[in-house]
Amino acid sequence: SDAMARIIVTAPQLMSVVNEELPGHEIVGGDHFMDRQEIADQIVTADALLTSLSDPLDAEMIGKGEKLRVIGQCAAGFNNIDLDAARQAGVVVTSTPGVLHEATADLAFTLLLEVTRRTGEAERWVRAGKAWRYDHTFMLGAGLQGATLGIIGLGQIGEAMARRAAAFGMNVIYNARHEKDVAAIDAVNPNTQPTRRVELDELLAASDAVSLHCPLTDQTRHVINADALATMKETAYLVNTARGACVDEAALVQALKAGSIAGAGLDVFEDEPTITGGLMTMENVVLLPHIGSAALPTREVMSRLAARNIAKVLSGESAETPVE
Ligand code: GLV
Ligand code: GLV
Repeated sequence: SDAMARIIVTAPQLMSVVNEELPGHEIVGGDHFMDRQEIADQIVTADALLTSLSDPLDAEMIGKGEKLRVIGQCAAGFNNIDLDAARQAGVVVTSTPGVLHEATADLAFTLLLEVTRRTGEAERWVRAGKAWRYDHTFMLGAGLQGATLGIIGLGQIGEAMARRAAAFGMNVIYNARHEKDVAAIDAVNPNTQPTRRVELDELLAASDAVSLHCPLTDQTRHVINADALATMKETAYLVNTARGACVDEAALVQALKAGSIAGAGLDVFEDEPTITGGLMTMENVVLLPHIGSAALPTREVMSRLAARNIAKVLSGESAETPVE
């Protein structure tokens, strides 16, 4: 095994955890965001990179890595990495699935509750010092009991979201490339209907809320476009904790302005951290700064897994969670 491999940590990290998993190596960074130039300078002499989802790991960048053996992405998604270029260069790419789905589903369900029960708007009301008293007809939102949640992408996060929805008495339908095992979802609540896989158009038309849990790929880019939004019910809500570019944000603003959907809860944006004009001033949207997996215990396990993947590849073993 390599003594003193050089590992570049491209973004702020939980370094105590990373250091524990990578003893005896030279570790650079981890306390700031490296820009494209700094990553380009560092990658030349790197044996490994511990990366974040905004790093530009395109073919040109990967091509600079003369000694590079492994990219340990500390995220579920890896749409910032050119996998073909990595494969051609013989660089193993790993990610951190299996450890952040419950936390991310917690946040997706938070957005669903917030947008349907108008908590952002209600809290702004109180903080603004506006008049209120207990009032039977004030700040009424939508209910979740018996409503239908449409899930696009039933991977680990989508499945965890579905279990939460079932616990709240929602019926779940989903769209995915393959039929999934839904036994764990259906076991949650005897009073909900069996979970069904449906075509995308049926999902959009039938759902009271649509939640995105797909990776960003050529197939899912703008899966929620103007047509999709027009297909949704006027009373329906959109939740996105996946990737901003799964939604045509300009079309979403139009649909919200036109009232062709009821609201949106967004943790991710097309051009983060820029928010498309219009969203900022709408009361019926909830805006979060990409914090889906940002629970401390989850982030610790993610850091540990990303670092352990690097350690394993550097010592000639198989990675635990390689990207296939
Ligand atoms: C966050 O967006 C992740 O992919 O883990
Ligand atoms: C989506 O998550 C799929 O696996 O098809």
